[in-house]
Amino acid sequence: MNNGDSNNRSAYNNMAEYYYEDIDKKPFNAYYERPATLSLIPSVDGKIVLDAGCAAGWYTNWLLNNGAQVTAIDLSPKMVKMCKKRVKGRAKIIQANLSKPLDFLKDKQFDIVLSSLTLHYILDLYSVMEEFYRILKKSGAFVFSVHHPFMDFSYFNSDNYFSTELLTDYWQTPMGKQKVQFYRRPLSKIILPLLQSGFNIDKLLEPMPTEKFKIEDSKTYKKICKNPQFLFIRAIKE
Ligand SMILES: C[S@@+](CC[C@H](N)C(=O)[O-])C[C@H]1O[C@@H](n2cnc3c(N)ncnc32)[C@H](O)[C@@H]1O
Repeated sequence: MNNGDSNNRSAYNNMAEYYYEDIDKKPFNAYYERPATLSLIPSVDGKIVLDAGCAAGWYTNWLLNNGAQVTAIDLSPKMVKMCKKRVKGRAKIIQANLSKPLDFLKDKQFDIVLSSLTLHYILDLYSVMEEFYRILKKSGAFVFSVHHPFMDFSYFNSDNYFSTELLTDYWQTPMGKQKVQFYRRPLSKIILPLLQSGFNIDKLLEPMPTEKFKIEDSKTYKKICKNPQFLFIRAIKE
């Protein structure tokens, strides 16, 4: 386990029912992260897809509803339970740590790997991206979103942009304060593991929030219009 894993497993266990019930009503998810990620996902009809960091299964369910055959992975046993509850036996859902080799998945098994807001929990991006490259078919797509390096650098007042650091945040939730730990690293340390694994970058987004975000929460909308929160990439296995 890397430093934050046991903490995050317990925090996400605590938040699993909340994610299942409420997370998709949050403007950050519904009107910022989801539209950008969905715009990068190629047609999934008839495709074999891995949802890496599935949480309570919003994307797993979306992929299934759009014709994909899905395997989903999450570190948190309670998130796995919530994902199973949501998709009712239509996907294979596995409790596993993305920081470890995915040796239960075959070479060239998937057409698409999707990982939404999960890779900032992983210290060694080289290993996980090499694993995603291995399990993708030729021309397969790897779509992911992560915390934008600018956001964490400014929010945490970091003093060295070029260092990789484990950050600790406390999220206010209906179950009380949850301690969550993740890695901030410079942009090059997100891009270079991708290129070194053999991927080509096909698209990169620093999107604006949608108009619905403005209606729901105009103050945060204005902030995000000037301060990127997440980074979105589609890469292709050539
Ligand atoms: C922000 S949530 C992901 C949200 C989800 N993709 C969605 O869009 O609904 C992050 C998820 O990553 C999982 N996670 C954190 N570290 C992980 C690891 N090392 N391996 C696998 N999953 C991990 C957490 O348990 C949590 O469910």
